[in-house]
Amino acid sequence: MPNNIFIEDKIKNFKKTIRVSSDKSISIRAILLASQAVGASKISNLLESEDVLNALRAIKKLGINYKKRGNSYIIYGYGLNGFNVKKKTTINAGNSGTLARLILGLLIKSKNKIKLVGDKSLSKRDFSRVIKPLKLFGANIKSKNNLLPIEMSGSNFLRPISYDENIGSAQVKSCIILCALNTPGISIINSKNSRNHTELMLKFLKYPIKIDKKKGYDKIFVQGLNQFSGFKYNVPGDISSASFFIVLTLLSERSQIEILNVNINQSRIGIISILNKMGAEIKLKKKRLYNGEKISNIYVRSKKNLKAINCSPKYNSSAIDEFLIIFLVAAKAKGISKFMDLGEMNKKESKRLDLAIKFLKLIGIRVDRIHNDIKIYGNPDLVLSKSYEMKNFLKDHRVFFLSCITALTLGGKWKINDKDSINSSFPNFLKILKMIGAKIN
Ligand code: S3P
Repeated sequence: MPNNIFIEDKIKNFKKTIRVSSDKSISIRAILLASQAVGASKISNLLESEDVLNALRAIKKLGINYKKRGNSYIIYGYGLNGFNVKKKTTINAGNSGTLARLILGLLIKSKNKIKLVGDKSLSKRDFSRVIKPLKLFGANIKSKNNLLPIEMSGSNFLRPISYDENIGSAQVKSCIILCALNTPGISIINSKNSRNHTELMLKFLKYPIKIDKKKGYDKIFVQGLNQFSGFKYNVPGDISSASFFIVLTLLSERSQIEILNVNINQSRIGIISILNKMGAEIKLKKKRLYNGEKISNIYVRSKKNLKAINCSPKYNSSAIDEFLIIFLVAAKAKGISKFMDLGEMNKKESKRLDLAIKFLKLIGIRVDRIHNDIKIYGNPDLVLSKSYEMKNFLKDHRVFFLSCITALTLGGKWKINDKDSINSSFPNFLKILKMIGAKIN
């Protein structure tokens, strides 16, 4: 089967209401916490993407059963550390940094040795950021150069830690929190702000976790060894998936979209603040609270006369997966946009900062870079009319989505490789695009 698509026409004006796929971060956390709960949990609207299916396969290998019933997955937990680990168990996290880093936190007491592996992209990513705190807890962990494969042998001699998490990584923070669940005493994480779904879910489960909010940081106290019961959870839509449709609408002509039931947790909506500062008028409608998470419909209209932004790094964590598509808006905006301190982008599924610059240059946009700061010279008259192909992006799903949105809004004849990459996070992406009128071959 060919694994590329062709887009040769811009999208025609549209007015649609859509749902995007369910939130990946919340789906993975719901599965991992259900695997530690006492009794059955029912998770509805789980994202059925490869990263999440790998989480289900992982808990199954660890002795946790689940079944699908209608639109829900029922997961049968045996409480904290209730895994039954066979000898020579290997867990494959595939493309998912979140799964790999979070599940390590749950394996620190494992009776048998477990090997963690991943795909080509994940095997290039650095695990020192979790190996360091895991060792402080007392975990026996082996890896060459802090890369996968990692071998984890559990320990019965765990001690609570006090840790400064200064990257602003929710994966690191969550790994430590999950480790703390299985460790006696109170662990303390002083963590630079990042998405807080793990904390909110534990609060919803009435788990003893306390959070002191400081400027830019959360001090989190987790008391270990408290059991919690199975739960019900309905996963909302993913703002990271929605972001591609937000920008598609914004940069198209005379179009409108309403995206239903999206998670708008403050730690995730940097893109909305940034685009609204650039002149978009994105509205959050029907705001509501669900198990501690904020949800709303997102309403967007096409907008001309977008302006450049001097983007404060305070948004870096809450827009970390969205910068690729934000840069496309900067490319069409009037003036020079500045983004700072984006080194973390190069630690993702691909080296996204490097690739973003390559991509912007491919479409004729000037970019200046000093270390991890970039300037994008916007061109409101930008129209593409040549042939384009982005090569060697390590099958990064978000680079694929970016290429599609660029082709549909700016034109040109595009060959876009690695269509299968959409299965990591958003398997319905192309179907929804076609539904709103995109011509894709
Ligand atoms: C995620 C956290 C972010 C994000 C990733 C999902 C999570 O990574 O980029 O796509 O679910 O915790 P970092 O925590 O490493 O920044």
